[in-house]
Amino acid sequence: MNELLEELALNAWPGVRQVHFDHWVLRLSGNHTRRANSVNFLGPSTLPLDFKIDFCEEAYSRFNTSPVFKFAGLYDSSTIDSNLANRGYQIEGNAMVMTHDLDQLRAVPSVDYRVESDLSAAWFDLAAAMLEIDPGRLPYFEKILSNIVPDHGFASVWHDGKPAAIGLAVVERGWIGLFDIVTSTQFRRMGLGNQLVLNMMKWGKERGATAAYLQVVETNTPAVSLYSKIGYTPLYRYWYRAKTG
Ligand SMILES: CC(C)(COP(=O)(O)OP(=O)(O)OC[C@H]1O[C@@H](n2cnc3c(N)ncnc32)[C@H](O)[C@@H]1OP(=O)(O)O)[C@@H](O)C(=O)NCCC(=O)NCCS
Repeated sequence: MNELLEELALNAWPGVRQVHFDHWVLRLSGNHTRRANSVNFLGPSTLPLDFKIDFCEEAYSRFNTSPVFKFAGLYDSSTIDSNLANRGYQIEGNAMVMTHDLDQLRAVPSVDYRVESDLSAAWFDLAAAMLEIDPGRLPYFEKILSNIVPDHGFASVWHDGKPAAIGLAVVERGWIGLFDIVTSTQFRRMGLGNQLVLNMMKWGKERGATAAYLQVVETNTPAVSLYSKIGYTPLYRYWYRAKTG
């Protein structure tokens, strides 16, 4: 299951630049999100590990950055993990993948819920503001969102005629993935995040999804509480190793 959900998540959140190297995929996207700027292990290595890590360091250095390696419990993880630890890479970004069977979807509140299949300037500007994205990263955010290939929707919930919460949904192979869920600060703790997520799940179900997944940082208490309350349960953990200094 981990392999499938990792693959779906890579498609849902495409890297702006990608290099395939001996079953690893290196993604570079102007440092906007670790997901789009990390090395992912998609199969067993056939080449020496030190050679591969050197290759990654050299590739990222050409963009004035250093690689971030993602661990989702797949392929050679423990060997790579100890090698990177010896090189001074630290663990960061502990997160989990949570899932929800859409047969168990409970009553969905009827609210002003909107979804667009194409990225509009209005939705993009809302997302950039609500997610407080650094202006230098906006071109990469725009490219990531514009390059999504599977069926997807840019969702929002409106309150009193104002956009209050937004999210991105991507449907592939019977799964709906939820990304960039955020409620505007002035509308938090009013049930709007809950309404948004439930309506996105319903939208996914209507488009053929039978299950939902999302990724959440373990220390993000509001988000973990929201998803748990809806009925999401943890499936597996993942984390990154990066040079933080
Ligand atoms: C997480 C987030 C989307 C929740 O949105 P929200 O509209 O405030 O959530 P809701 O009002 O619908 O809350 C529903 C439930 O979530 C939980 N919850 C929400 N905020 C919480 C908080 N600050 N602390 C603890 N639990 C919280 C509660 O269980 C709440 O139910 P309750 O109010 O009956 O106790 C919002 O805090 C946010 O935008 N955070 C920043 C972006 C982010 O981290 N997104 C998630 C990325 S995975």
